This record gives sequence, structure tokens and C-alpha cells, in this order.
Amino acid sequence: MAGEPKAKEMPRTMTVHETFKAVPVTDRIYWVGAVDRTVRDFHGYLTSRGTTYNAFLIVDDVVTLVDTVKKPFHDEMMARIASVIDPGKIRYVISNHSEMDHTGCLPDVIRSVRPEKLFASTMGAKAIEDHFHLGHPIEVVKDGLEVSLGKLSLVFAETRMCHWPDSMFSYVPQEQLLFSQDGFGMHLAGDHRFDDECDLAVMDVEAAKYYANILLPLSSFILKTLEKVGQLGWKLRIVAPDHGPIWRKHVDRILGDYARWARQAPTDKAVVVFDTMWGSTREMARAVAEGLQAGGAQPRLMPLAESHRSDVATELLEAGALLVGSPTINNMLFPTLADTLSYLQGLKRKNLAGAAFGSHGWSGEGAKQVHEILTRMGVDLVQDKPLQCKYVPDENVLGQCRELGQAVAEKVKAKIAEAGA
Ligand code: FEO
Repeated sequence: MAGEPKAKEMPRTMTVHETFKAVPVTDRIYWVGAVDRTVRDFHGYLTSRGTTYNAFLIVDDVVTLVDTVKKPFHDEMMARIASVIDPGKIRYVISNHSEMDHTGCLPDVIRSVRPEKLFASTMGAKAIEDHFHLGHPIEVVKDGLEVSLGKLSLVFAETRMCHWPDSMFSYVPQEQLLFSQDGFGMHLAGDHRFDDECDLAVMDVEAAKYYANILLPLSSFILKTLEKVGQLGWKLRIVAPDHGPIWRKHVDRILGDYARWARQAPTDKAVVVFDTMWGSTREMARAVAEGLQAGGAQPRLMPLAESHRSDVATELLEAGALLVGSPTINNMLFPTLADTLSYLQGLKRKNLAGAAFGSHGWSGEGAKQVHEILTRMGVDLVQDKPLQCKYVPDENVLGQCRELGQAVAEKVKAKIAEAGA
């Protein structure tokens, strides 16, 4: 809708901070998000490098805000908007995804800016109401709807379960620019907003970590979304996610990564996750790793005393095997293993070979429970029961551990051959 935007009152709580400037993405589109350098826990995910909450301002006949930021960063976002235009001139607000890192300050924005229209998907409209109980009218976006903003327009596509039921993409055909909400994002704070300004090796790690911890269980939906974007004929010159750098140089690379990660093909990497009480399960893990290596696999040892569950998930993203060792404590598996296996079970990584092992003093439930959990996860186990050791492994037990590693390596080779990977 064209026309001169009406100036409205600035929010009373807003502090215009000179530090916070908008960053041009194109002539008419600006990054107006927030940088959260200190966040280290994102619902269970270790965000070692912080994150950004990306919001975008389209300055056209109809000034439009695409997504907002986490609630504590409201003033930062508004200051960035104010560095370009009076925030009261915003007429449309788009909510591509309702999770609170992107909608936390939406109620404040609506109250202060009073936009003419708030757009969301069908499920997004419900989710916004269920979160904030605003009773505010929401323009429900139909799949494929195009809305003119003047020189530019926005085309909407529902992308359910990529990664919430409400998720949608917004596309600016004139700029070949995709607002992809969480898709293609990463938790990476820093001074740079674009992929060509950042360390690509760091981006590769953080993009993989994001996929492994957030999107992996939704891989079938990711594949459908990639297919849908292809069918829509959307050319992607710029991909602007809601976290981390904006892709403008390596768009094809991240699209290719997503297609590969979503397929979950096995590789020769074997992740050995374990914890230890008095060192025996650690000795077993080392011997298992020797066997894996002898069998041609690439072991990655992950002691849980030093490894976060989200880093284990990242290692597992492009692996072919998961081997897990646990001591027994009070007739149970070790608590760190319970934590990590519960997390991994939810992430539903497919196409893994594996095995369970562990040392115990009395009854040995720990390794048995691990075996049961791996079975429930659909891991293709090489033994019908775990390899167990009483107290301290001798050379005989360590030999069995090496054999176990070799057996898993053989199974991985067979899986790779079967997958044609
Ligand atoms: Fe970044 Fe699903 O929120």
C-alpha cells in the first residue's frame, strides 16, 4: 500500500543510543537487530560465541519491520531503526516465527509503533496470541501471497516445522533476498553482519552446530522446504536469517550444507561418548577408539566431563557411528550420560551404527540402560548386549573393547556402501 507514512509517538521507554546503527543490506533494506555477546545457554545449547537476533527494516512507500528481537534487546533494535527513520513510520510488521527470541519485544513494538498491519502465518497468528494474549488483529498470510510495499514487495511461503509449526519465509523478488527466520542461521555474535566479512571456518562450525541442535530432527521438513524454494523459482542472491551473519557470498554453500545434513548419510567418523567414575570406562573408551581406528573409522572421543551435550550433537551430525560408555552409579547410568542421551534421542539422528559398554562394581545397570536407550534411538548395534567390565579392565577386556571398535568400523563401512555415500 503506497502513501506517506504517518509519524507516531516514539516509545516512552526507548533510549536512542548513538552506538546502535542500522546496517544497510541493500539500498532499501537494513539490518536493525541486536548482538547478544554474552548468552551462553540457549535452551540447553551451549552458545560459546554468543548470538544475534536479526530484524530487518524495509524503507519503501510502506515502511516494514521484518521480525523483532528478544525482549531485553528492544531498545537496541529501536535505536537502530531510529538511526534510519522515525520508528513511528513503520506501517507493517512481519512475524516469520513466533519463538520469543524473535517476538519477545513484539508487544512493545505494537504498543509504541501501532502498525497498520501485523502479518503472520496461520499457526503464527495462533502462537502470537497464545504467547502474548494481545487480542491484536493479525493479518493471516496465505501461502504464496504477495504484498506490495511500493518499489519492493514481499512474497510469503509457509515452511511448517522449519522449525516451528508457525514458521514462514518472506522473499523480496526485486532483490532476490530471502528472510529465512531460523533457517540457515547460526549462533555467532561479533562485529560483522555479512558472511564475506567473517571467518568461514568458524561459520562452518557454528552453522553445523545450529543445524545439529535445532533443525536435525526436522530434516524431512528441511528437505521439503529446499524443494519448495526450488519449485517457487526463487533465486537467492541474499539469504538473511534471524541469527548470525547474512549470506551474500556463500549462499550456494549453505544451501548445499543443508541438503547434505538433512540427508544424514553415514560417514566414517565414529563418536565415542563416555563418562567415568574411577577411570575404567575411560580406559575402555580408549581401547574402543583404537579398534575403530584399526578398522578404518575416524574416532572422536568425547568425555562428558569436558564435553557439552550440544557439542556431542554437533560431532554426530556428520558421523556414521555412536558408541557410548557408562559406569553404574546407584543402579543407574551415569547422570551425564542420562542428560546427553535424552538430548540426542530427541535429535533423532538416523543411519548410525553403534555399541554400548561400561565398567561397574556391583550390578552393571549403567551399560545395560545405555544399550536400551541406543536401541530405542534406532542405532544399529553390533552386539545384542553391552560389553561390560567388572571394576578395572584387564588386557583381555581391553582386547574385547578393540574388537568391539573394529566390529563397529566394519558396520559403518557396510552402511556407507549401502548408502552409496
Ligand atoms: Fe531463533 Fe526458533 O527461534
